[in-house]
Amino acid sequence: MALKKIIQFKELGDDQGWLVALEAERNVPFPLRRVYYIYGTRPGVHRGRHAHHKLRQVLVCLNGACTILLDDGREREEVRLTGNTEGLLLEPMVWHEMYDFSPGCVLIVLADGWYDESDYIRDYAAFKALCR
Ligand code: TYD
Repeated sequence: MALKKIIQFKELGDDQGWLVALEAERNVPFPLRRVYYIYGTRPGVHRGRHAHHKLRQVLVCLNGACTILLDDGREREEVRLTGNTEGLLLEPMVWHEMYDFSPGCVLIVLADGWYDESDYIRDYAAFKALCR
């Protein structure tokens, strides 16, 4: 199964400019409970470094670019997010890290659950053990 699951969003707009609409249970394939965004990441920083037991998320790079490492315990794949018309679907039990943020990068994340620290797996060895 491919780790990289990209959702292509339709660009709406006219001669005034562009618009993308994200709709829960339509082009975002789950009910929405939370939206958060990541910005101001300093050069060289790796963010994320965790997996979730249950949470489903869609990541969209609204401005700039960043790289996401995906790891399901068997395969690893890097995805460079560069455009605000594509979303990366991040399923549960996928270890992910974000890095190589361009200056001014804004990454918005849509999630199907509220923030819940007990849903996080923050230890890579524990994640690998759970994958077995
Ligand atoms: P963290 O998961 O460490 O993010 P990153 O690896 O991108 O830096 O989260 C940073 C802090 O924000 C941590 O204290 C948890 C908190 N947090 C919330 O309170 N709500 C949220 O929705 C998220 C994603 C994080």
